Order: sequence, then C-alpha cells, then structure tokens
Amino acid sequence: MAERLARVESRNVTFVDHGWPVFWQDARGANVLDADGNVYIDMTSAFGVALLGHRSPTLEFVLRHHTLVHGMGDIHPPVTKLELLERLARVAPWDDARILLANTGSEAVEAALKTTALASGRPGVLAFEGGYHGLTLGALSVTRRDHFRAPFASRVYGGVAFAPFPDVIRDEEPGGAASLRRVAELLDSGAPNGDAIGTIIVEPVQARGGARVPPDGFMASLSDLASERGVLVIADEIFTGLGRCGAMFASDRVGLRPDVICAGKALGAGLPLSACMAPARVMDAWPRSTGEAIHTSTFLGHPLACAAGVAVLDSFDIDAVPARAERVGGELVAGLSSRLGECRRVADVRGIGLLLGVELVESDGRTPAAGAGSRIAERALAEGILVLPAGDHGEVLELSPPIVLTTEQIDHALDVLASLIVEGT
Ligand SMILES: Cc1ncc(COP(=O)(O)O)c(C=O)c1O
Repeated sequence: MAERLARVESRNVTFVDHGWPVFWQDARGANVLDADGNVYIDMTSAFGVALLGHRSPTLEFVLRHHTLVHGMGDIHPPVTKLELLERLARVAPWDDARILLANTGSEAVEAALKTTALASGRPGVLAFEGGYHGLTLGALSVTRRDHFRAPFASRVYGGVAFAPFPDVIRDEEPGGAASLRRVAELLDSGAPNGDAIGTIIVEPVQARGGARVPPDGFMASLSDLASERGVLVIADEIFTGLGRCGAMFASDRVGLRPDVICAGKALGAGLPLSACMAPARVMDAWPRSTGEAIHTSTFLGHPLACAAGVAVLDSFDIDAVPARAERVGGELVAGLSSRLGECRRVADVRGIGLLLGVELVESDGRTPAAGAGSRIAERALAEGILVLPAGDHGEVLELSPPIVLTTEQIDHALDVLASLIVEGT
C-alpha cells in the first residue's frame, strides 16, 4: 500500500519508511484497526479531532438519521446551519456572538485574520514563536516554523512580528516577563514591513508547539497589553477548544480575554467543520451581504457537518466533556509522573485537561532532545500505541487522547511509552 501511495500522492504529504505509515481500516472509541488487523490505542485523537472517541455515539446518531448531505450554505442555508450557529452563540463568551463557519482550522484562522484586519483598521499581526495556525497562505504568515515557511517566503505576508512564547524550563524571569516586554515593544514598533499592528493571534495553550502552558497571569497581562493599545486578540482554540482543556474554551482557564475565537477539530466529531466567532462590535466590521458574500466557500454550512456540530454541543450536557477531559488528563499526568519521575531526560510533564506533553532534553537537562519525540512515536507504533511528536525540534511527546480512554488503556499505553522513553533517552 505504501508503494501504491507513493506512486499517486504528491510526495510532500505522507512520510513513507520501513514500518511507517500504517493504513487505517476502522476506529472505535480510543482504538484504531489497521489494514493488517493490528489494533492500536490512539493517544492522539487523530490530531485532536476525536475528543469524544472515534465514531462516537454522537456522530453515529447523526450519520444514521441525517439525510441532507449538501446544501447552499450562503444562499439558501440548511436548517442545521442555523441550529449550529444558535448553539455556538450560546457557548461563546459574549452575549451577541456573530459567527462565520468554515470547514478546516486554517480557514477559520483566515476568516479571523480578515475580521480583525477590518475591525482594527491595522493590517499588522503579532504572533508567537512555536505557534501553529495552519498552512494556507494567510494562516502560514502567522505560523513561525521555517520548515513550513521557507519554501514560500516570497508569498507570505511580511506584516507579522513574532514574540517568544514563555518557556517554563529556560526562562530566567518568572511569569513570562521577558516575553511580555517583547510583546509591548513589538506592538509599539510595528511589524517588520512597517505595518501597524492591530491583531494578536495566540493559542491559549500551544498545542503542536509542545503542549506549552503559559505561566499564571501571562495571558491576562497579554490581554491588558492588547486592550491598552486597541489591539484585537484572536484566541486560536482549534486544538484547545470544545472541552479538551477542561473548559469549553481554554482561554477561560488561562485568563485570556479574546475578541475572536477560532474553533475546529473536535467541533465536527470527525467531519470537517470550523468556526470563527466574535462579538457584534468586531464581526460587524464586515459589510452586510448585498447578494454576493465577500467571504464564503462552497461547503460553508455543510449540513451533515453542522448536524454533527449540533450533536457535539448537545453532548456536552450529557457527557460532561470538560470534566471528563480533566479527570482522564489528571490520571495521565499522575501515571506519567510516577513512571518518569526519576528519568533525567524528561524535563517536564505538563498540560491542561487532555492536552499533555512530555518534554525530552539532552543530558545537560536543558537542550531540547531534537527528534526524540519522533523516534519514540515510531517505536510506539510497533508496540500498538499511536502518539505524535510536537515542538519545534520534535522534542516533545504529545498526548491528546479521547475522553473515552479507559484506566486499562491508560495503564497499558503509559507502561509502553514510559519504557520507550527510559530506554531511548
Ligand atoms: C491551533 C491550531 N490552529 C490551526 C490549525 C490548522 O487546522 P487545519 O489543519 O484543520 O487547517 C491547527 C492544526 O493542527 C491547530 O492545532
């Protein structure tokens, strides 16, 4: 299959090597079945999407009962689009939320960046090193990693300034003070191309950057710096939102006060669905539609995906999703800490709810162990555990499993991962 794939897919997409990848055949709960009949424990929720589990009863119900598959989202909207918008407006942190739907996380980020450019009247953006916001051209302009940017340097908007995200292991001052000073300087000096900065985009907890949790007070101070200067804050909650971090939105837990929120991944329970939300004072910077929307797409308000979004939001009351994420996450942190407490190459076990990271370092206890997360992920696959590396250098092992993970699955997965970490470091 890997050979067949290599013959037909653009070669930049799937990494193919001995034993990698495996081809998925089916998935249920926290388990994945591959084409050879092997069963895995999925500690990734497949990029954070299957928070409720693969083929959750929530999604199953929608797939069985919903009949309208495609509609005309921005012309004659499907009923489920309206229902989803009303539910999202209820969970948004403003009384008068207005929402733009899309299909992928990157598209929600594009919509958010356009919204704040209109609302602030200043095109420049401040983003953070280590942040990941997607790879479409607008989203790429605020995603720092050279691996993604370098080939397109001449296409990427130059009005983005990057500030360091606080680093609990290496920062000399507490509370991310150095980072906050840099943010203030950049907001005052403007973007590298001279554009004035009207937007800050930030993940409340950096996900692909390595499950980096900001120190207490950092996000509240960031919000203060923004509001003092009339700068709008976009919280990219595509990974962290919808309960993963023990609250509907992680911003709430870390003290960030966003003007715009992007959600995606878990919102569609496996169907492509994302949203950009803002209060009317921000979203009404868009002109009223006169017949031809100036920002839309063919699949906006996809009826089946919207039905899944409605079911996901309804399941919050039944399944107590944030509380379960917090409880299962607590079990994982306790299990990791007890197994890895003595391991000198583990600099940090961290995270909130079900977005966790194990940071691996060299023997000096400080230098990121480049590629260590990737090597462990490869070996874990052979042992039946799906896990992904994170961090700019692949130095973090990221754990973002579904809430349905059982204690037995946790014990088994952690025994395997801890022994690979101890052996491999
Ligand atoms: C925080 C964050 N923002 C945006 C994206 C981009 O989402 P998508 O891959 O659906 O375009 C991701 C994807 O991992 C993400 O983690």
